[in-house]
Amino acid sequence: MSLPTLYVSRLLPPPVMAILKERFRLTGQQKTKPPSQEEVKEGLREAQGAICTLTERIDREILEEAPNLRVIANYAVGYNNIDLEAARAQGIVVTNTPDVLTEATADLTWALLLAVARRVPEGHRLVQQGEWTGWEPTQLLGAEVHSMTLGIVGMGRIGQAVARRASGFTMPILYCSRRPVSQPVQEQPWRLVPLDELLSSSDFISLHVPLTSETHHLIGARELHLMRPTAYLINTARGPVVDEAALVEALRGGRPAGAGLDVYEQEPALHPGLRSLSQVVTLPHLGSATLDARVRMGLVCIENVHAVLEGRPVPNRVI
Ligand code: DGY
Repeated sequence: MSLPTLYVSRLLPPPVMAILKERFRLTGQQKTKPPSQEEVKEGLREAQGAICTLTERIDREILEEAPNLRVIANYAVGYNNIDLEAARAQGIVVTNTPDVLTEATADLTWALLLAVARRVPEGHRLVQQGEWTGWEPTQLLGAEVHSMTLGIVGMGRIGQAVARRASGFTMPILYCSRRPVSQPVQEQPWRLVPLDELLSSSDFISLHVPLTSETHHLIGARELHLMRPTAYLINTARGPVVDEAALVEALRGGRPAGAGLDVYEQEPALHPGLRSLSQVVTLPHLGSATLDARVRMGLVCIENVHAVLEGRPVPNRVI
């Protein structure tokens, strides 16, 4: 029996690649770096299914040249890289990888929050560069985290996982969401509030909304100005949710106090201002980057592709 043809846009972790090679005829060259648009087009030309990542822009033009394509399994929970309308028009199913990366992304959100509040990268550099001359009463003073208010914008799976971790820090939670969520039994209250109230009343604000036309630049100059001068902004969602130029301006003006960023408007480019501000901690889009999460994301993609090609119910269908 001939194997189904699958375009895989990137080199995925070895356990995932091993399964893919056994079960599919692969097209494309699986490299660590992103393929060009031309390479994506070429890889999809004959494919019945595809596993793509967030760096591949799957637009109408590309889809129109993929006549056999029945499913795109996006190797991410976000799917703003895919033109859903164009996919729908061609009857192509799109799937994503929720759940399996929730805890990893929530952990990384906390890593950023703690790192920026307690100036971890600055301390690390000081020691590593041999510039530390000993303990000082006023050296690298940071912000308290425990008991401070955490504002969560977008209370989906990842937002809730971030909120659950906050109970260990005795932090009350404010959140914005389309609908209220039920809180697990915990001491600290989770309170649904309007965005402006969240911005002006939180000490740490963490973003967990998907990127859509409604959330593009959700946090701009006005919103940043509402934040407390002592507050910190954390973004592990999508870069364009924040107006990066406005953020740089706001940070230069001293409000907010700092930012922890894992995602950027024009990845991998960084707004030049973000490089020169010591109160910013930057990571290279590592939210889901644990071996376990990345393997499970691959397995979820494989299951979704099989389900579509075999006409079974699709576990993580987006459209
Ligand atoms: C996602 O899943 O959307 C992350 O940004 C990449 O893992």
